[in-house]
Amino acid sequence: MVGKPLSKPSSHLEVIVERDVFTLARTAADLVQAYMSTTGEPRLGLATGGSVADLYRNLVLRSRKGWLDFGGARIFLLDDYVGLGRSHPQRYANVVMTRLARHVDLDPHRLHAPDGDAGDLAEECSRYEDLVCRSEVGLQILGIGRNGHLAFNEPGSCLESRTRVVELAEVTRADNARYFPGPEDVPFLAITQGLATIRQAGHLVVLATGSSKARAVRAALQGPVTSDIPASAVQLHPRVTVLLDPSAAALTRFGPA
Ligand code: PGA
Repeated sequence: MVGKPLSKPSSHLEVIVERDVFTLARTAADLVQAYMSTTGEPRLGLATGGSVADLYRNLVLRSRKGWLDFGGARIFLLDDYVGLGRSHPQRYANVVMTRLARHVDLDPHRLHAPDGDAGDLAEECSRYEDLVCRSEVGLQILGIGRNGHLAFNEPGSCLESRTRVVELAEVTRADNARYFPGPEDVPFLAITQGLATIRQAGHLVVLATGSSKARAVRAALQGPVTSDIPASAVQLHPRVTVLLDPSAAALTRFGPA
């Protein structure tokens, strides 16, 4: 049945298939709202990308209606490109500022992201890793890449990895080319929280929509936990909610019969 938790393959992983992307975004926003309204100083981990676009819109709407208060909240981004330049509109810190933070009155100092333009990238990775670990993110929103990546942890990433500089897979650069003037403008490198860093968050909420994600979703949820499918690392976490539309769920046991 659409819209209800269909099954729990293990006690900690809940999969919900919603009828469309708007309902899915609403359910994700419900989870964010429930977390933020029951936590004194919410520490919210956010992803960027197409899967979370409607969630951002929904959060802005709720904030305008007074249902959500970002005043005491802090936001932590999963990743960002290396070398784009601090004012580039596709820098994830700028994307989240433009699409969400500025509309919900979040103090810009409370929006945290790895700085892909830092002079010493190794030092920046260790600074951001320490910050995220010390801050104890309560709820982490995640997408899944077509190749099974989680944040910018591409296939081959160690399951115990920490924040570091990574090389983007060609399929990731191709998928993200739609946000740049041309495919050659997509950076080759990024800083990403590692798979172990991400698993430190209290609750993981994974969003995936569209048929292009169906294979990766099946592998991540039903396959073995493996570096080949970094998103399979969510199976190691004690509390995970996966929100899918029917197309993304189609190849799983949660999809339409
Ligand atoms: P998307 O990306 O939401 O733009 O599909 C998800 C991801 O790459 O993690």
